Amino acid sequence: METEYMYKIVLIGDWGVGKTNILSQYTRGEFVLGSAGTIGVQFSTKVLQIDNVVVKVQVWDTAGQDKYRAITSTYYRGAHGALAVYDITRADTFNRLEIWLKELKEYVKDDCAIVVVGNKSDLPNLAEVKTEKAMNFAKENGYAFFETSALNASNINSAFDAAIQQIH
Ligand code: GTP
Repeated sequence: METEYMYKIVLIGDWGVGKTNILSQYTRGEFVLGSAGTIGVQFSTKVLQIDNVVVKVQVWDTAGQDKYRAITSTYYRGAHGALAVYDITRADTFNRLEIWLKELKEYVKDDCAIVVVGNKSDLPNLAEVKTEKAMNFAKENGYAFFETSALNASNINSAFDAAIQQIH
């Protein structure tokens, strides 16, 4: 194995949608119930092998809450992909995706792979956002779409894989 690629994927979306737990579930197989909000920026790396190529996926996470946001161009710069995350139990987080995506696009290249992610699919009884509505939004804009659960790991790998496949 010789070739090595590094892909940067950023997590965007409102406070509390589950960005930090998506990161920890994907890179470490961990979930923390009632975890505190993120302050600042963190990233974790996961190493994959695709065909005969080593791919390092660097996942970036930052606070969704304005007062803690240290978002500068540094966060977005060079991102190959983005997971735009909302919480299926909070419609406001879905409605604000367009604002997040607009900001993302100010910094990244046109070919940045975007995946819309409706997290907390383990709470279907509390759902405020219909799957179909989010799916149509993604489709109309040419984004991939998954409903995920960072709690039970459902579709977490699939959401990242969709981004990575588009990048690779
Ligand atoms: P900020 O850092 O403030 O932007 O929040 P965040 O988007 O990183 O959310 P975080 O991962 O901290 O999760 C917020 C809360 O939702 C925590 O109490 C988590 O335990 C919970 N949570 C995250 N993902 C899931 C999920 O898939 N299912 C359920 N039931 N709870 C989740």
